Amino acid sequence: MLGNFSYCNPTKLYFGEDALDSLSAELPKYGKNVVLIYGGGSIKKNGIYDEVVKLLAAGGKNVAEISGVMPNPTVDKLYEGVEIARKHQADFLLAVGGGSVCDYAKAVSVSVNCEEDPWEKYYVRFEEPSCETLPVGCVLTMVGTGSEMNAGAVITNPHTHQKIGHVFADEKIMPKFAVLNPKYTLTLPHYQMAAGIYDIFNHICEQYFSGEDDNVSDYISEGLMRSVIHASRIANKDPQNYEARSNLMWAATWALNTLVSRGKSTDWMVHMLGQSVGAYTNATHGMTLAAVSLPYYRHILPYGMPKFKRFAVNVWDVDPAGKPDGQIAEEGLAAMESWMKELGLAMHISELGATAEMIEGIADGTLVMKGGYKVLDRDEIVQILKESLA
Ligand code: NZQ
Ligand code: ZN
Repeated sequence: MLGNFSYCNPTKLYFGEDALDSLSAELPKYGKNVVLIYGGGSIKKNGIYDEVVKLLAAGGKNVAEISGVMPNPTVDKLYEGVEIARKHQADFLLAVGGGSVCDYAKAVSVSVNCEEDPWEKYYVRFEEPSCETLPVGCVLTMVGTGSEMNAGAVITNPHTHQKIGHVFADEKIMPKFAVLNPKYTLTLPHYQMAAGIYDIFNHICEQYFSGEDDNVSDYISEGLMRSVIHASRIANKDPQNYEARSNLMWAATWALNTLVSRGKSTDWMVHMLGQSVGAYTNATHGMTLAAVSLPYYRHILPYGMPKFKRFAVNVWDVDPAGKPDGQIAEEGLAAMESWMKELGLAMHISELGATAEMIEGIADGTLVMKGGYKVLDRDEIVQILKESLA
């Protein structure tokens, strides 16, 4: 295990078909003025909205709403929500939705009492909040981002073509609690389910493809990856399979709740490329990752050969006997590629609306991280994006 670290994850999880009952115990811990935050209306169609509103009323809460939080929430929507929360003198923010709604609630939480422009402070200068923040609770309806148990909040600025994630260092930005009822995810369209599955898988890859040390986090990651592959194959054929969907939900939370990054360096370049593609196309997050992954991993493979070989053998069951390292590693990526196609993931950014004319701009918006096997220069970013195009 590298370096010195502390580990504390303060989010309390409630899991299972009766998980929402926990709201009755959680709500009294917070003040009367609650802002209920949700997306474009899926929770009204599947009945989750009614269940939540009933519990808020039973708890005697004074409720205001921020509705219409879009996938890839924008900075303008953030400003709008901050005004609503201020006017309501909010004591508590309850996010009911996917990663976009949970991220957005955290962004409102750090902005309500912030006197500066939150975009500039948190997404340009990457500062920590210097004001009081509001507690956030999540009722999760879409699986993938891990936002329910982390301090990440991704906001898109369509005016500058930037999609930026800030992972706050302060644990108080993590949700106080999260309600994980796998049944809530059964109404997700297949496209969102598949995108979420790849998001989970890639979060693990981002933390796995780095370092050469013998690290317990990598063994946990291999187990999580095997579980995601197994459950995804069942869910892909039978989306209503509770066991598979519940396994995916639990794996998603552990894939990005700070556990498997402990004591190691991490990469995050697929996310940086994917987020920049998202800033230009507003495409679904998991699909942007899928579309850039193979060109990226094939590009860095020579710099991280031992790990790619281990990935092939331990995650994809490639038989290494009598094969050169390069062949073993490539067979691992080929197995991943065929699994991705099986799930129906986007394999090219052109499928998501990206064009050749956008490549330079997408490259400009790609933040370069330094924790992986190769620090990319601009020419390499452009090359990977071109290979991802079609
Ligand atoms: O808006 P509604 O009508 O609710 O519809 C949503 C939305 O259109 C729909 N949906 C959600 N639950 C549903 C449902 N439809 C039917 N039944 C349900 N139960 O699904 C669509 C996508 O929802 P969204 O919240 O956008 O998806 P996701 O959870 O993938 O979140 C994506 C956002 O999270 C960020 C992404 O960049 C993106 O902005 N991320 C956050 C991270 C974090 N906090 O650590 C890390 C991730 O890497 C990611 O960057
Ligand atoms: Zn992600």
